[in-house]
Amino acid sequence: MTSLQDDTPPHLHQADLHDASGREAVFSDAISTLKTIASNIHVSLDDVPVAILEGRITAVIGLSVTIEGMSHLTGIGDRLTLMGLDGRETDAEIIGFRGKEAIAMPFGPLDGLGAGCKAVFHLYPTAQRSVRAGAALTLNDGLIGRVIDPIGCPIDGRQPLSPKGRACNLRARPPEAALRARLGPRLTLGVSALDLFTTCREGQRLGLFAGSGVGKSTLMGMLARNCDCDVAVIALVGERGREVREFLEDDLGSEGLAKAVVVVATSDAPPLMRREAAYTATTIAEYFRDQGKSVLILMDSVTRFCHALREIGLSSGEPPATRGYPPSVFAELPRLLERAGPGLPLDGKPAGQITAIYSVLVEGDDHNEPVADAVRGILDGHVVMDRRIAEAGRYPAINVLRSLSRTASGCNTPEENFLVQEARANMAIWDDIQDVVQLGAYREGNDARSDLALRLAPQLETILRQSRPEYRSLEDSFLALRNVLASQGIHQ
Ligand SMILES: Nc1ncnc2c1ncn2[C@@H]1O[C@H](COP(=O)(O)OP(=O)(O)OP(=O)(O)O)[C@@H](O)[C@H]1O
Ligand SMILES: [Mg+2]
Repeated sequence: MTSLQDDTPPHLHQADLHDASGREAVFSDAISTLKTIASNIHVSLDDVPVAILEGRITAVIGLSVTIEGMSHLTGIGDRLTLMGLDGRETDAEIIGFRGKEAIAMPFGPLDGLGAGCKAVFHLYPTAQRSVRAGAALTLNDGLIGRVIDPIGCPIDGRQPLSPKGRACNLRARPPEAALRARLGPRLTLGVSALDLFTTCREGQRLGLFAGSGVGKSTLMGMLARNCDCDVAVIALVGERGREVREFLEDDLGSEGLAKAVVVVATSDAPPLMRREAAYTATTIAEYFRDQGKSVLILMDSVTRFCHALREIGLSSGEPPATRGYPPSVFAELPRLLERAGPGLPLDGKPAGQITAIYSVLVEGDDHNEPVADAVRGILDGHVVMDRRIAEAGRYPAINVLRSLSRTASGCNTPEENFLVQEARANMAIWDDIQDVVQLGAYREGNDARSDLALRLAPQLETILRQSRPEYRSLEDSFLALRNVLASQGIHQ
């Protein structure tokens, strides 16, 4: 094992260290020596670092620390350990470089860290590096029914998780676009307003857009319990701590939890933990998808994931651009969201699918704010929740006319498409005339279409209204819609 204290060991040329191949070449001798030793003493080389680097913290500013002594041999995303003045160890990740100094952000509080504190980095052989550096999680089926933190440790007070399983890359690339399976059949979400007006297919990705307090989390809870999937992976990213138990006990319940994995990083967690919650949940969903399962991933909220990225980007010295978000946020967002969706075809079996529903907090009810805009452009559909509807007491407060599923018409029968179009057309007319009706200025008999919309409005409202514990199958929802329209003489 080699211990390096300085930036550049005296026997190395600077040029060697500046590129990745030079960096690996430096350690090839050490690796081959270790391979010989490991094979003789039956130790897995995976567990043996080829070098331990020590650096020193030079400054602690805001949420980040700068470290000297490891700039040439580390890269973005490498994980290291910071040794506090009180002897406490804190894991950290390198998020940038300034000159010869590395900028790192800790996974825990910064308390006890100061200038001069030691930073330790274990360098492992290239092939194992991502696993050793913490950029991979070992997953197994025992995760189902468990509540974990973003680094994979259970937080439900039950037995520890088995360390055995498949090592899955937390930063995996999405399956090759040209080889990916197509979307699967339509999926029952169990909420009439969504099943009818934004019908969702297996492998589709939908966004739930709403201002604060309009009912995103409550709707997510209904979906977690009602959706017809094999496994549900739920990521609670940066939301309130109080809501976690409420979600587990009231929304999910023991029946929902029996087929779910819940990943939690509350709002007080450091930004790296909030970011990792989204990656961990996506990686777990991929693990089950690759077994051919139909997986639902619910992320509440992707806005908080972007807030975490913003804090990390700004701490690494990136300039703020749109509404304080540095450009890297909008580069990283599609890398996460594109990982959901269909998997690669499996031998003789249909491909697994990740159906994804991401909640987006639209700040100040501005649906064109940058995160909402970016997410809407990436996903395959959007569900808009409206404060006016919530204030009128109709939950879930979904504004059907502003919501869209880009794949709905392709998975419904022609009759179902007809029913949905008729209902939408009548709701649009009702939307135009309702102010006049409420003022008492509407006169029936002048326009037959408006009269029909007026008669249909309360009946359609009944279909859209759904209490929290209620489950409705997709077939029942279409039957109810068919009956409502038929009662006014509308049928194909
Ligand atoms: N289906 C529903 N039935 C009755 N009340 C509801 C329903 N959905 C939401 N509410 C009411 O709206 C409140 C806020 O809901 P919720 O916490 O789901 O909103 P949110 O959009 O997630 O808010 P935030 O952005 O602050 O996280 C709830 O406390 C509840 O009073
Ligand atoms: Mg919420």
